[in-house]
Amino acid sequence: MVLRWRCSPLLLLSLLLQSFVSADHSFENTAVVRTVEVAGSLVQVTTTFAVKALEGDASEYTIALGEREHERTSWLEAKIKGQAAILPLFEGGYDPEIGVHFYTVALPHAMKINETANLVVETVETHATYPWPEQASQKDPQSLKYETDLFVVSPYKTLVERIKFRTPTPNIHSYTNPPGLDDFTVEIPVTKSGATITYGPFNNIPITSAKEFLDAKQEHVAVHYAYDSPLVEVMKLKRSAEISHWGANLNIEDTFHLRNAGPALKGHFSRLEHQSTMFYGRPPPHVLPSLTVQLPAGIHSPYYYDLIGNVSTSHLRTSPSQGKNGRSQPSLLELRPRYPLMGGWNYTFTLGWDSPLADYSSYEKATGKYIVGIPLMTMIPGAVVDEAEINIILPEAATDVDYYPPFVPTESGITTHVTYLDTVGRPAIVLRYGRLTHKHAGVIYVTYKVPVTAHLKKPLAVATAFMGLFALGFLAKRLDISIQKK
Ligand SMILES: *[C@@H]1O[C@H](CO)[C@@H](O)[C@H](O)[C@H]1NC(C)=O
Ligand SMILES: *[C@@H]1O[C@H](CO)[C@@H](O)[C@H](O)[C@H]1NC(C)=O
Ligand SMILES: *[C@@H]1O[C@H](CO)[C@@H](O)[C@H](O)[C@H]1NC(C)=O
Repeated sequence: MVLRWRCSPLLLLSLLLQSFVSADHSFENTAVVRTVEVAGSLVQVTTTFAVKALEGDASEYTIALGEREHERTSWLEAKIKGQAAILPLFEGGYDPEIGVHFYTVALPHAMKINETANLVVETVETHATYPWPEQASQKDPQSLKYETDLFVVSPYKTLVERIKFRTPTPNIHSYTNPPGLDDFTVEIPVTKSGATITYGPFNNIPITSAKEFLDAKQEHVAVHYAYDSPLVEVMKLKRSAEISHWGANLNIEDTFHLRNAGPALKGHFSRLEHQSTMFYGRPPPHVLPSLTVQLPAGIHSPYYYDLIGNVSTSHLRTSPSQGKNGRSQPSLLELRPRYPLMGGWNYTFTLGWDSPLADYSSYEKATGKYIVGIPLMTMIPGAVVDEAEINIILPEAATDVDYYPPFVPTESGITTHVTYLDTVGRPAIVLRYGRLTHKHAGVIYVTYKVPVTAHLKKPLAVATAFMGLFALGFLAKRLDISIQKK
């Protein structure tokens, strides 16, 4: 999981010394509202805690995630309602007996007794939905199921709690109404209104991060709903960004291993049937005929190929570059895979383009360093990226290489990349990430120096190569002539 906060070593130390709290009496939740936006590969969960300090000098609030919740969560951030600042968040330990993970939020100031605050905790869950039924024939609709534990896990008592599930359309097939909900309410415990199902309000909920509660009172609920877009997942994304000062160019190349995680196709694929549904309107929601991706402004020379070769049926609308400080519209590329992607099918393709290096780089005279900002990834809308590898290839002979990723990678390092016409090879930065979402779109900053002599090496190498080619061409011509003579 990526915490939207980078710890300093000092804070990390205090974190290690801290033990977990499964019950805490420094706060109470006067109200908790959780909204779960169920969708495709990504589910966004927003929980607002209206908290009241029961003790003075309360500066750390603890949030808790159940086992399943924790496993699915790939993003976690906390803010004070209405404020932009993301609050520092630290791992607070794991209690294996109850299967609960704790995180500590550092509040902006120590709260006085009876002081209140509204804390908003946002998480993004991945792979939390699944197609149900698991199979669909080519013309069938698509439905998904989302299952979760109902009550918000918290080490504090809660006076009032509501849990809402919002689906993309009001077409909800079913939702669970477990009998145990009556324990905390005298009203109708669950209601549906349009595309929203509301559980609660529930009153006087005890500490939920406790064995007694989790064993006896926690409820399991499921929502089954229609989903009208393909369930797209990127199993693997490999990005290669190559910086060339000589060509004043930044080349970015992405290889995607895409998967339609929708219901598996029942029976055989019929192209005829597919073409008729395409002709008479929208194709079934579980078929992916094309996808649109956003690329940076000011790009040129795009290319798109798959395992078979170039794919020509793609459409690019480039927006002009506004320089590195200007805000500009992204370029839009509509990709049409070689075949429509049915549920359970994979598609591997490569997408590349060039950009003026000046849009991404600057030179700092004082330190003699170049600073280049490389976008972390290309977003496929609504998709999770299970595994990402990002390679940033620097100019030959670059020294003093440093990099500043927006989020802590699972793995990173510097290697050497040797290509044609290189004399000593190029330093390359490799970063690996797992389960990226739209929240992780960021920029990796790279700084380095290039010695003046290195600028000369490349033209020299190219000149040598050209001389060689020229000589070869000359020979070939002579050869040619001799053949024609025959
Ligand atoms: C906090 O609120 C409670 C209940 O309203 C009250 O009894 C108590 O005196 C308050 N404490 C302080 C320090 O204001
Ligand atoms: C693919 O397209 C690129 C650029 O348009 C071209 O240079 C290349 O030769 C093409 N490759 C094939 C196999 O058609
Ligand atoms: C798609 O890729 C996954 C993972 O590599 C694999 O398990 C699955 O069998 C592939 N599906 C098809 C239809 O090839």
